[in-house]
This record gives sequence, structure tokens and C-alpha cells, in this order.
Amino acid sequence: MVDFETFLDGGGIIEADDDMPDAYRREVFAFIEMHANSELMGGLTERDWIPKTPGLRHKMAVLAKTQDEIGHGHLLYMIAADLGVKTRTEMLEDLFAGRSRFHNVFHYRAVTWGDQVAIAFLVDAAALISQQAVFKNCSYGPYKRILRRIIAEEGFHMRLGEDRMMRIAEGTDRQRRMFQESLDRWFWPALQLFGPDSAPDDVLLRWHIKSERNEVLRDRWVQRFVPMLQSYGFTIPAPGLRFDEETHRWDVGPIDWEPLRRTLAQGGPDSSRRIREAADNWSRTAWVRAAMDNAAGGPGGCSGAADGAGGADVGLLGEEGEAVESGGAADGAGGADAGDSAAGSACGVGVAVERGGGSPPPGAAS
Ligand SMILES: [Fe+2]
Ligand SMILES: [Fe+2]
Repeated sequence: MVDFETFLDGGGIIEADDDMPDAYRREVFAFIEMHANSELMGGLTERDWIPKTPGLRHKMAVLAKTQDEIGHGHLLYMIAADLGVKTRTEMLEDLFAGRSRFHNVFHYRAVTWGDQVAIAFLVDAAALISQQAVFKNCSYGPYKRILRRIIAEEGFHMRLGEDRMMRIAEGTDRQRRMFQESLDRWFWPALQLFGPDSAPDDVLLRWHIKSERNEVLRDRWVQRFVPMLQSYGFTIPAPGLRFDEETHRWDVGPIDWEPLRRTLAQGGPDSSRRIREAADNWSRTAWVRAAMDNAAGGPGGCSGAADGAGGADVGLLGEEGEAVESGGAADGAGGADAGDSAAGSACGVGVAVERGGGSPPPGAAS
């Protein structure tokens, strides 16, 4: 392990077929699986709002964002499965049975259009900050290359949220009140997405999966969004908020982590409905996966396409099961327009991943 850590400290990159310590494999897998689950559950949040989104322009953006998020999920499930801990199907079954985790923000319900704006503005920005920090110095090559693409698209999501927020800020009193109420609901869950302060011996930091501590990333988000929201005349729902004149930094005061802990135990305000609906969609769309398997010459004949198309359907069938017109996750996962390390395969959703440079790592036994 000492040699392995020295290799990582020297900028070494691990690939899926390299020897690696079991503990590293498990930690990287768990981290990517939770990220994949979160992208899928986030995509379903967007999907819920396709019929309710006001105006064609916004509706097109919600469709595109839904495809992006489901596509991110596909890419991440693929590289997680390559680690050999669970198959993609096992990961999905665990998610739909409530046995695995996804980010806290997707345990809440978006009840107004203002919530959707707050999510795109605050939550996508928090996700982007976290992902940028992982991308910066990530020792697991497949994850780093996939993140390049995801980050490019998350940047668009955050800009979309910023654009919507500015429109609401310049809107009617009623619109501003609606957004303030959304801010009251979403400010703390978005902030808690970063998690409590990192443990001193956090192996994800030691093994160069994360590059910065949770509290550093959280503070970066606070310093950016608190003054921005205030400049548009909104109130930050933090009674302990204060500006330190000496450091010129905002401090949100004490953070109650109990709501985060509840979501980690699937006990968030909307956890059970979200998991149940995702599971219902999965079983209702089994026929699509079976049809794709048959078209590809039987189960396993083109497993990327079969899994991918099934997942896309989870994201893109409406409440009553009606199909929503879409190039879907095949575009989101397989298209190569936003990242130079991903290219569509013959199966439509597969990704040809180039091996990163550098020497092979020292063996897992070290
Ligand atoms: Fe995403
Ligand atoms: Fe996003």
C-alpha cells in the first residue's frame, strides 16, 4: 500500500484493468456509484418538470438537461461496472430497492417553478464545484476522463440556472416572492450537498479522488452565491449569517446536519416517493430493454445498448408512461461533442475510453 500511495502521490493514474488494492477499488466504486445514482435521480427530477415547464424555450432546455443528467448517469454506471464490484443491473436494483445512496438534494420535492430555478442555480453549481475538485487531480483515469464531459455540461446547467434566476429577479413581485420561498427551501440542502467537514484521514483525499476538503468547497460556494443572491435583493435564510470585515468573507453560522443524515438513511421528505417512482418506471419499461436485447441478438449481445436504452426510458417516460420524443440518453451518453475522450460505440451508448498515459501502478499486494 505504501508503494501504491507513493505512486498516486507522484501523479500516477489507475486504469480499470490495473492491479489496485481492494480498499481503493471499493472506495472508488462507492464514490462513482453514488455519483451515478445522483445523476439518474436528478434526471428524474428534471423529467418530472418537462410537462409543467412554462414556455417552449424553457421546455426545450428542461428536455436537454434531462437528457444530459440521464446521460451522465449512464457514463458513470459504465465505469463503475468496469471496477467489477457490481454490475450495472445490480447497481440499479440496489437503487430502486432503497439499498444505495444518492445525493441529499434529490430526497426533496420541487413544488414550484421557482424550485426548479433554485435547483439549476444552486444545486447544479454545488455539483459543478464538487466535480471540478475531483477532476483536478483524480487518480482513477476512467472517472477523470468522464468528468471532463460531465463538467462541460454541468457548466451549461449552472448558466441556465443563473439566467432563469436573473429573469425571476427582474420579474414581478409575485415571481420574486416565489423565488424567495424556493431559496428558503433549497439553500440549506444545496449547501449540505458538500457534506460535513472532511475527516482528517479521509482516504478519498489521500488517494487523490478528491483534491479539496468538503469545507473548502462549501466555503467556495458560500462566498460566490451569498453575495450574488443578496445583490439581486433576496434574503439568505441563515439567521447566523455574517460578514467578517477582517477576512472579507461570509460565514453562514452553525449548520444543522440532521437533515443530511436523514437523507442518507432514505428518510428525507420525498425519499420514498422518489425511490418508488423510479422503481415503478424501471419495471414498466422492462419491455424496452427486452426489445433492445432481442434486436441486438439476445441478452448480452449489445449490453451497452440494452442497459442504456432501458435507463433512458426510466428518464424519459412521462407520468402516465407516454413516450417523450427524444434522442435520449443515447445522445447524452454516446455523443462525442462535449468531450474528447468519449465517442459513441456501435451500440449507441457505449463509450470508447482511451487509456491514460503514465506507467502502470505498483501491484495491489504492495
Ligand atoms: Fe449531471
Ligand atoms: Fe446538472
